[in-house]
Amino acid sequence: AQKNRIEEILASLSWEEKLNQAQITFKMSQEECLAAARGGIGALFWPGDAARTNAVQRAAVEESAHGIPLLIGLDVIHGQRTIFPTPLAMAASFTTAVARSCAEVSAAEARSGGVTWTFSPMVDVSRDPRWGRVAEGFGEDPLLTGAMGAAMVAGYQRERLDEPGTLVATAKHFIGYGAAEGGRDYNTVDMSAQRLRSVYLPPFADCVEAGVGSVMASFNTVNGRPVHANHRLLTDLLKNELGLTGAVVGDASGVENLIPHGVAADMEQAARMSLVAGLDVEMGGHLHDPAARPKAPALLSDDDPVLVARVDDAVRRVLTLKMALGLFDHPYVDEASEITSPAPELLAAARSAAELCPVLLTNDGALPIAPTTRRILLAGPAATSTDHLGAWVQHVAAAPERSLAQTLPVALAAAASAVGVPAPELTVLGGQDPLGVTAEQVDAVASAAGEADLVVLALEEPSQLTGEATSRADLRLPGGQEALIHAAVATGAPVVVVLVNGRPLVVEDWIEEPAAVLEAWHLGTLGPEVIADILTGAVNPSGRLPMGWPRSVGQLPAAYDAHERTGRPATVGGTMIRPAFDMGLDGPANLQEFFTSKYRDLELGPRFRLGHGLSYSTFSYRDASLSRSEISAAELADGAGVEVRVTVAHEAGPKGEEVVLLFVRDVVASLAPAVRRMAGFRRVAVPAGGEAAVSLRLTERSLALWDDDGAGWRVEPGEFEIRLGPDPQAEPLRLTVTR
Ligand code: IFM
Repeated sequence: AQKNRIEEILASLSWEEKLNQAQITFKMSQEECLAAARGGIGALFWPGDAARTNAVQRAAVEESAHGIPLLIGLDVIHGQRTIFPTPLAMAASFTTAVARSCAEVSAAEARSGGVTWTFSPMVDVSRDPRWGRVAEGFGEDPLLTGAMGAAMVAGYQRERLDEPGTLVATAKHFIGYGAAEGGRDYNTVDMSAQRLRSVYLPPFADCVEAGVGSVMASFNTVNGRPVHANHRLLTDLLKNELGLTGAVVGDASGVENLIPHGVAADMEQAARMSLVAGLDVEMGGHLHDPAARPKAPALLSDDDPVLVARVDDAVRRVLTLKMALGLFDHPYVDEASEITSPAPELLAAARSAAELCPVLLTNDGALPIAPTTRRILLAGPAATSTDHLGAWVQHVAAAPERSLAQTLPVALAAAASAVGVPAPELTVLGGQDPLGVTAEQVDAVASAAGEADLVVLALEEPSQLTGEATSRADLRLPGGQEALIHAAVATGAPVVVVLVNGRPLVVEDWIEEPAAVLEAWHLGTLGPEVIADILTGAVNPSGRLPMGWPRSVGQLPAAYDAHERTGRPATVGGTMIRPAFDMGLDGPANLQEFFTSKYRDLELGPRFRLGHGLSYSTFSYRDASLSRSEISAAELADGAGVEVRVTVAHEAGPKGEEVVLLFVRDVVASLAPAVRRMAGFRRVAVPAGGEAAVSLRLTERSLALWDDDGAGWRVEPGEFEIRLGPDPQAEPLRLTVTR
C-alpha cells in the first residue's frame, strides 16, 4: 500500500516539484523556510524549535500543492541537549553500548523538537590527526569504526523508524574523506582499490547492513573523480553492491563544488552529473528554488530519459523515508513535550558513557590523588573553562554548568571523608587563554606550584580548533601551554596533566616530565564531573586509545596497521645517526639495520599506539587459547569461526574494567598483508582479586583479504598469528587455515 501511495504521489509531481523533493535547502530565516515549504521543498534544516518546525511542516502539509511533509535535517552528532563525549572519545570506550545510548538519547531529544534526519554517524576511518574531523569519527580502525557506527544507526533508527523518538541516520562521508592528503580538509584522495576496500569501505558496509536510511557523499575526489559525480562509487558500489536502499545526500554545496573541482562548467552540468552518478538529495537548494519570486527556472530540463529515471528514483527514495518515519500520518510534534534541557536520567546516561572514555596515558602513582594530599594547585586554561562539549554542538546545547574548578573540590571532599581525613586545600589558577598563555601566567603558576604538594594542570585544545575545517599542521598543545608544564615540573612538585582536547597530540617535548597524564577528551555535559571522579579514584579509568599518537607530524601516518608489510622492516629506530658509509665499522648486523624502513631521527612506532591506556588496577592475561587450531576456508565461508578465549585476572588495585583487544597477522599471503589488523574487542569488568573469562570470535571477515584482481574477499590457506592486547611483540597463538 505504501509503495502504491509513493507511486501515486510521484506520478502527480511535475519536473520542478520532483527536483524540489530531491534537495535540502540552507534557507535560514523562518520566513524563507515557510516560503520554501509552501513551494514544495523536500527537506529543510531544523528551524530551531518544535513550534517553528510545526509551522514549516504545516506550510508544507496544508499549503503546498501536494501536501508532502518535510524531512527536517540537522547535524545531531553526539547529542542534542544532553551532550555525550565526542565520537572519538566514545570510541575510546571500545563499547558499542555507549554509541547506542548516545544515539538513543540524541534521537529522543531531537525528534521531540521536530528533527527527523541526522547527519551522523561519521564513519570515515581517520588516520591523520592533522584532520580536525578526527574528533567526529571513531578513530583509525575499520572494525571499531564500523561497530560504533552501526550501533549509532541502531540507536537513532531503532527497530522501526515510525517508533517514537527516532531519526533517520546518515553514514558519512562516502568515501575516503578521512584520507585527505596531508590531513588538509577537503583535499584530494588518491588510493588503491585494495586500500579503499580493506580500510575505508567496511564501516559503510556495516552501517548499510544495520539499515542506515541515508549516506552522505564526501567532498573529496577519489582518484581524480569527485565523489559527488562518481557513478562507480555512488551507484555501482554503494547502491548496487552494498545494497543501500535509502537516499544518498550530498554534502553542503558538494554539487556546486564540482565547478571549483574543475569537472563541471556550470551548475546545470554539475547537477546533471551528480544526479546521474547516483546522488538523491542535493544539499544547498541549488536544483530549483521553490521560494524564488518570480519563480526561478529549473536548472535541469527533463529531455534526458536517463536523468528522468534517476530523478524518479531519487524522489522515490526520499518519499520512502518520509513514509517510513510516519510523517504522512503524523507530521507534527507535540510542542508541549519538546525536550529543551537535559533530563536527570539522560544526564545519568551521558555520565555513565563519559566514565568509560578517558584514557590514562601515563601514571607513576600520582593518580588517583591520595586523599591525604594537603595542598593542591589546579591551574591551566581547562581548570575554569566550560569548553568540554567538543565540535558540532554550539547551536543547540548549553555549556556544562560547572568547570573542573567546581567539580574537583566536591570529589576531593568525598574521597577525603570516605577515609576520615580533612579535605585538601585547593588553590585555583585558571583563566589563561589556551591560544596564548603569557609569560606572567607561566610565572604565576610556577610560584604557586612551589607551594603545592600536587599540581593538576588542566590544558586544552579549544572545541573550535576541532571538527570541520580545523586541520592543523602543528599538533602540539596550542598557545604555548607546554610552558606551564615545564615551569610546574621545574618546581619539583608532582604534576598531573589533564588534556581536554579533540585529537591525538604530539607530546614529545614534555610527556616524560609529569607524574601522570590523563587524556580526558571533550567529554560532553558531564565532563568536569567525570574528570574529577577519575582524578580522585571514584572512577577507575578504562578508556583505550582508538587512534595512535605520533611522535612528530613528520611521522604521519602513524596508525597501528596503516602500512602493508614492507621489505626491509625496521627493528631499531632513531638511534643510528651516523652516515651509511661509516656503518661497516660496526659489523654486518648494524649495517643491515641501516637500510630499513624508518626515520633516522625517531624511535619506531607511535608514542602511544591504538589500544594504549592504563588503569588504577593491574590485570594479567591467563590461559589464552583457541577453540581449534585449524579451520578450513570453506568452513569459514559457511559461517564457522574460532573462539579465542582468555582469562583476565585482577592482580592489584581497585576493581576495574579491562578492554581486551584481538589482533590478527597473516604470516604469508598472496598480497603484502597489513602489519596486523584488529579482529575484535571486548570490555570486561574484573572484581578485585577475581577474574573474568573473555571469548572473542574469529570469522571469515577477520582473516580475509581483498584481492582486486577480480577475486574479491577471500581467506587464503596458511598460518595466522593471533594476539591479545595492544603489544605487537606479545607471544602469539597460532591458527592454521586449510583449503
Ligand atoms: O553534515 C555536515 C557535513 O558533515 C559537513 N558539511 C556540512 C554538513 C551539514 O551541516
